[in-house]
Amino acid sequence: MMNKTICVVGLGYIGLPTASILGTKGYRVVGVDASPDVVETINRGEIHFFEPDLDILVRSAVHSGNLAAVSEPQAADIFIIAVPTPLDDRDKSPDLSYVEAATRSIAPHVKAGDLVLIESTIPVGTTTEVVLPILTRESADKAAGVRLAHCPERVLPGRILVELVDNDRIVGGIDEESAAAAAAFYETFVRGDVYRTNAATAEMAKLAENTFRDVNIALANELSVVCDRHAIDPWEMIKLANRHPRVNILQPGPGVGGHCIAVDPWFIAAGEPNARLIRTAREVNDAKPDWVVEKVRAAAAGMASPVIGCLGLAFKADVDDLRGSPAEIIVRRLKEDAVGDLLVCEPNISRHADLPLTALEDVVARADIVVLLVDHKEFRALRPHDLAGKTVIDTRGAIR
Ligand SMILES: NC(=O)c1ccc[n+]([C@@H]2O[C@H](COP(=O)([O-])OP(=O)(O)OC[C@H]3O[C@@H](n4cnc5c(N)ncnc54)[C@H](O)[C@@H]3O)[C@@H](O)[C@H]2O)c1
Repeated sequence: MMNKTICVVGLGYIGLPTASILGTKGYRVVGVDASPDVVETINRGEIHFFEPDLDILVRSAVHSGNLAAVSEPQAADIFIIAVPTPLDDRDKSPDLSYVEAATRSIAPHVKAGDLVLIESTIPVGTTTEVVLPILTRESADKAAGVRLAHCPERVLPGRILVELVDNDRIVGGIDEESAAAAAAFYETFVRGDVYRTNAATAEMAKLAENTFRDVNIALANELSVVCDRHAIDPWEMIKLANRHPRVNILQPGPGVGGHCIAVDPWFIAAGEPNARLIRTAREVNDAKPDWVVEKVRAAAAGMASPVIGCLGLAFKADVDDLRGSPAEIIVRRLKEDAVGDLLVCEPNISRHADLPLTALEDVVARADIVVLLVDHKEFRALRPHDLAGKTVIDTRGAIR
């Protein structure tokens, strides 16, 4: 197995760590990316997004000659597709155009005996109803003898290199031979357990994981709004409720962002009338930024010319990723509505396209209202006495 060639299509948060780990495990890896900048950066042994230790791994894989980035797929024994699967903003339906394009791009190179693995998160049915028909139509052998499986990823950004190896994996084959071949491949570099199933079950299991988190956070967010009316600290209440041996309520916040938890539930719910709870949870989480804006507006209403200090823009703590961030949504809305003079601090980025950034000390010194939106470590270090005399709206329960 180890002398095999692997073609990884899509060199982002999932594809690049996977390609570089495989490159250091003795596989010959060809990484494909549609972006020429990404290809050039990787071939210099550098990385195009931050992930701890990834730079060292990529440098070592590229310099050993086991990882090379290219623009077009090549013949290989194993193909891994790790391209984006965003939502169509108009109706929240999954946009499968990247998966389709990636499948079409490998199809002419796929031959009998090869293994094709879809790691992108996909709606139920995509492996057999979208990917397989393209391979059947466009591969040289009409996909005869090709093994195909969906092998979803569940890594946490910030811990990707650890979790890629340690996490348990699900491999969902289009038939038993595909599942067995996929499992045998992952077992060469995964320390966690590898579970075999069919493609549809693997697709749904991945979506169910993030949906579980979204629904649980919606419960926490709803409870936090109700707690607010009773002057109850929701974080203390949840901590106490979680002392029950079978209760585990997640943490409330200003909303849910990022490109997984806020997206994947729609892969189940879009166009599915039975997904009532899942849809409602999405709506509850999407409504939380409005509630925060209203809190700020109410606090500002009694002040002559309030200065509002917003702490954080990222979608979660200690990352520089602003994709779908509720913090950014809230800051933009406060700006559009001219609720007050805004000061914005985001320690993980050096500049923002249209929101000027202010150092934390200046925000703390000048703001009348401090709105904590992300529990970055710099903000967690604040104590209530640092903000004495100010109105504090702490959406993460971070200042204690
Ligand atoms: N990032 C995560 O934490 C995470 C976790 C689990 C699952 N996923 C899933 O993994 C998939 C990939 O996510 P990501 O975060 O790595 O995306 P990303 O945006 O970081 O990277 C995707 C890369 O694919 C490239 N690309 C797009 N179309 C291509 C094509 N046709 N051919 C070659 N390259 C192409 C892009 O240029 C980009 O570099 C998605 O389905 C996502 O939902 C992501």
